[in-house]
Amino acid sequence: MDAMTGLRTRISVLGTGRLFAAAGQRLADHEAAYGPRKQGWGRKALLAELEASGLVGRGGAGFPAWRKLSAVTARGALARGPVVVANGSEGEPLSRKDAALLQNAPHLVIDGLLTAGEAVGASALFLYAPRESLSAVRRAAAERKDARRIKFVEAPHAFVAGEASAVINALETGVALPRDTIARLGEHGYRGLPTLLHNVETLAHLALIGRYGADWFREAGTREDPGTRLVTLSGDEVPEDAVIEVAGGATLREILRADGVDPAGLAAVLVGGFHGAWVPRDAFDRPMTAAGLARFGARPGAGIIMTLARGSCALAAAAPIARYLADSSAQQCGPCMFGLPAMASAVERIVAGERTPWLASEAERLAGLVAGRGACRHPDGAAGFVRSTLAVFRQDVLAHLDGWCAAAPGSAS
Ligand SMILES: Cc1cc2nc3c(=O)[nH]c(=O)nc-3n(C[C@H](O)[C@H](O)[C@H](O)COP(=O)(O)O)c2cc1C
Ligand code: SF4
Repeated sequence: MDAMTGLRTRISVLGTGRLFAAAGQRLADHEAAYGPRKQGWGRKALLAELEASGLVGRGGAGFPAWRKLSAVTARGALARGPVVVANGSEGEPLSRKDAALLQNAPHLVIDGLLTAGEAVGASALFLYAPRESLSAVRRAAAERKDARRIKFVEAPHAFVAGEASAVINALETGVALPRDTIARLGEHGYRGLPTLLHNVETLAHLALIGRYGADWFREAGTREDPGTRLVTLSGDEVPEDAVIEVAGGATLREILRADGVDPAGLAAVLVGGFHGAWVPRDAFDRPMTAAGLARFGARPGAGIIMTLARGSCALAAAAPIARYLADSSAQQCGPCMFGLPAMASAVERIVAGERTPWLASEAERLAGLVAGRGACRHPDGAAGFVRSTLAVFRQDVLAHLDGWCAAAPGSAS
């Protein structure tokens, strides 16, 4: 049991136990498990290794790691002294994997940051994370000379604090609010310098690829989804919330069973967190990959699964999430600031049993209005979640609008 997150940090029976292989948090445990960090990485060599590995970001968008590395080293960017940032802020309430990683395998994240930094000739290295996790990594860094140049910055506990432009803003000004993201970080990031920003789990995988190579990375997972990923599992019928390392391409059913959850007791799972989408039980045999879940508009995101039990009201579960997302707006862009609360209200009114037939289409209309209209992608994520709720639980929506709830059959009004 992880004392700080209160979560078990388990190595899944599906996975290869890659990220939590060290017996403890000390450098000696880390090197006993993984050997010393391979040094001397140049830009081209790491780029080739990352491209061959197929590693994609584990922070949400799933962007290929080699492309990001290529951006900060292209068109003279290298000469401008790129900056590398490890993003461990984990503002998503359903995610615990970054905290689990930083608190149990801090040296792996440090290795990834140093390896990426070495390859791009970084002028600065940052590790950005909430206080609890930061103190664990700081302790680990104090054990090693090569980590002295890493600057540690505390991330506030807020949903949007881990969004890329909010991270850069926090590093520059101490204010973790998103800002206009027209400029690409790879060209113009921290203080105008080319910036490579990765989720801490992505960097931990990068550290292992740096040690053992792309072929080794691909020994786990599938061709389309190589390697392993961390998944945070929580919700109905979950005996204990857990962070599990699973092989790429594992199906939702396999992941649920790995944590002792009986899929037969579930109606659906929310995949990808509050910005994610619902996947109904008849699709549990699909792999937890972007392609496998495309039909539902879901993707692994930061590796999150929240379960919903059969017989429970999906809309009652969805409404507080829609409200939370509205409350998480950084209040900087009109459509986000006004559209998200209105969208959440429409969902809440449906749940409350208001028999106004157009409420569902109103929620849908608002989702269409806010998507793509913010400086960051928060409104897009919130709109996606509400659209998914309306689509996957259409029968429940119609039932509510008709004055009854399938989860409470006696509720007809
Ligand atoms: C509202 C919002 C919140 C986000 N929060 C996080 C976060 O807490 N941690 C994180 O790593 N990425 C977060 N992201 C994604 C980052 O913007 C960025 O894509 C990611 O850190 C890049 O890392 P990767 O390439 O390793 O996935 C968030 C994005 C959005 C739109
Ligand atoms: S879209 Fe919303 S969360 Fe993003 S910057 Fe604008 S107000 Fe803030």
